[in-house]
Amino acid sequence: MSGAVSSGAASTEDHRVPGDKSITHRALLLSALSTGTSRIHLPLMSEDTLATARVLGAMGVEIRGIRPGSHEVTVSGVGLRGLRSPEEVLDCGNSGTTARLLLGVLAGQPLTATLTGDASLRSRPMARVTGPLEKMGARVTWLEAEGRLPLRIQGGELATMSYILPVASAQVKSALLLAGMCGGVSVELLEPGRSRDHTERMLRGLGVEVWGEEVEGGWRVKLPSPPSVLPAGGWTIPGDFSSSAFLLALGLLSGPPEGLRVTGVGLNPTRTSLLPVLRSMGARLEVEKMEAQGEEGEPMGTLVAYPSALMGVDVPPREVPGFIDEIPVLAALASRASGTTRIRGAEELRVKESDRIRAMVDNLRAVGVDVVEHADGLDVTGGQAPPRGHVEVRHDHRIAMAFGVLGTVPGAWIRVDDPSVSEVSFPGFWELIRGVATGGLPPVVTLDGPAGAGKSSTAREVARLLGFRHLDSGALYRGLTCVLVESGLPPAAWKGLGEAELDAFQIHLHPVRGGFAVMAGERLLPDASLRTPEVNARVPGLATLGAVRKWLLSRQRAAGASGALVADGRDMGTVVFPQARVKVFLVADLEERARRRLLEQGIEPTAQRVIQEAERLASRDGQDEGRKEAPLRKAPDAHELDTTGISFQEQVDAIVGWVEPWLPPGWEPSPVAGPD
Ligand code: S3P
Repeated sequence: MSGAVSSGAASTEDHRVPGDKSITHRALLLSALSTGTSRIHLPLMSEDTLATARVLGAMGVEIRGIRPGSHEVTVSGVGLRGLRSPEEVLDCGNSGTTARLLLGVLAGQPLTATLTGDASLRSRPMARVTGPLEKMGARVTWLEAEGRLPLRIQGGELATMSYILPVASAQVKSALLLAGMCGGVSVELLEPGRSRDHTERMLRGLGVEVWGEEVEGGWRVKLPSPPSVLPAGGWTIPGDFSSSAFLLALGLLSGPPEGLRVTGVGLNPTRTSLLPVLRSMGARLEVEKMEAQGEEGEPMGTLVAYPSALMGVDVPPREVPGFIDEIPVLAALASRASGTTRIRGAEELRVKESDRIRAMVDNLRAVGVDVVEHADGLDVTGGQAPPRGHVEVRHDHRIAMAFGVLGTVPGAWIRVDDPSVSEVSFPGFWELIRGVATGGLPPVVTLDGPAGAGKSSTAREVARLLGFRHLDSGALYRGLTCVLVESGLPPAAWKGLGEAELDAFQIHLHPVRGGFAVMAGERLLPDASLRTPEVNARVPGLATLGAVRKWLLSRQRAAGASGALVADGRDMGTVVFPQARVKVFLVADLEERARRRLLEQGIEPTAQRVIQEAERLASRDGQDEGRKEAPLRKAPDAHELDTTGISFQEQVDAIVGWVEPWLPPGWEPSPVAGPD
């Protein structure tokens, strides 16, 4: 991911997501069309909703408080037919909702306007809205390609409309209702499925008569007698359920055991069909508290997601309109479930901000997931392998965020080509998920591998570059070996040592600049005494002793308590820090390792010596891999790095590249403080 992470301790505080995108667009539009001043509390201030505010501003609507992060916006309405002819082209940016709902509004205004958008929006179908609007009396001219923006619309007198929508679409439905409102004509619609009903609820909240009912063949909506004046309103925008879905997914995949809580989320039942789907996959998701309905009749509540083992399901196609925007994150979750998840009846995904079926299929494959594309959906088969690879977001915020969440699973490494697209609907997304996933702490990084793979020197340099401490776990074993040798206790007796005897040597780690010194009581054990031939010969045997390993474990873990650690050894990723976010397993050819070992000791690596050293290393490998306690092996979520043919700098760069996405927001590499 392009952000995220730590040693597992995720934050347990309450989280909030930005305001609902659909409701904010509608609050801005309805306020603009009302008579009087409306107040919008906690609006979503993102690229999409700013586009709506901008185009309304270009038509004479005064909106105050519009800026990123604003908690309150006030809108001076111009009345149902009071918009001014715009002098400029109305640029809707990436926002389909802006373009389509605005077309409905413009159809009922006595003016001409030109609409355009970014490359993604210019590729999306507009005829589904303009078709029925033309039937009502609007005149539309395509300026480039038929059915696509840019277009010119001339509004005016409209006729009553009765229309069957070919697809369930809240945007089309809302555009027609708004046209009815502005044109002062009744509208009756039949949708094949039930799409989100914010427009209906908000109109009702302003005293407008709007009906909605289940009928044979779908859902009927009626605006029988639009009023001539729309009163000003006051809106409090709930958190966006679609945005909360990303946090919930994070909670299910890698959140804290006590649950990840998202408060103040809009729980309109036409938006929350994802919840039963996820529950049918085995997700533990709870609606903890329903809060009072806001003035716009939108229910709100607190959602809690607990880490859950997920299994694949067949997603009911009938329910798809109720979670259409959540399918990218659902597919990402499916890639971590056991078995296959089949999503069908979702052909609408092909005409969202990107072709989301194609985008998910290509990008899931790019991170190693088994996926099959269908005309109206996709099959995703889950797996355990950590997702890794490069993701192309294709101007689509929800694709970027779905992979952002997937990037928080253990061992993941996902690079998103344009993380900034999340600003369309979820400002601060990356900071938030990085903060949640890391608990605000930098990660523990583990480097394991056989003797001579270059662990220590690489770990030291990675730690220096990142401003982390380096824990050379081998030095602890050496420290203990050193004092045991000094004590004169025969090595044959070492295996009988218990906790109390080991304690008596007072071996511990003392933080120093950039790392730790090995101490025996008050005495610092210098590197030279940790690397005598006797210590070299005895340390592998000592390291096989279960009691010793157990005794050292707490000392090693204590070093990682504050995160920001690069720990090298043989069981750092498997036993000591199993929750470490970034694990690396270094390997290299035996000969290459032998050569390096000799050079390290200042010995010329002649052919003869290399062979001897390689034999020694091979037997050490056998000992490390075969021992009962914490055998040397690659953790399943570790990155394997073969250092044979690559330079030291290349090794270091590769590892830093894996760690970078997991640095908490604002982390500045600086030398780790402590005495030299
Ligand atoms: C929206 C409706 C949905 C949804 C979009 C917002 C709305 O689109 O995908 O993100 O606010 O009305 P369709 O109505 O085209 O399905």
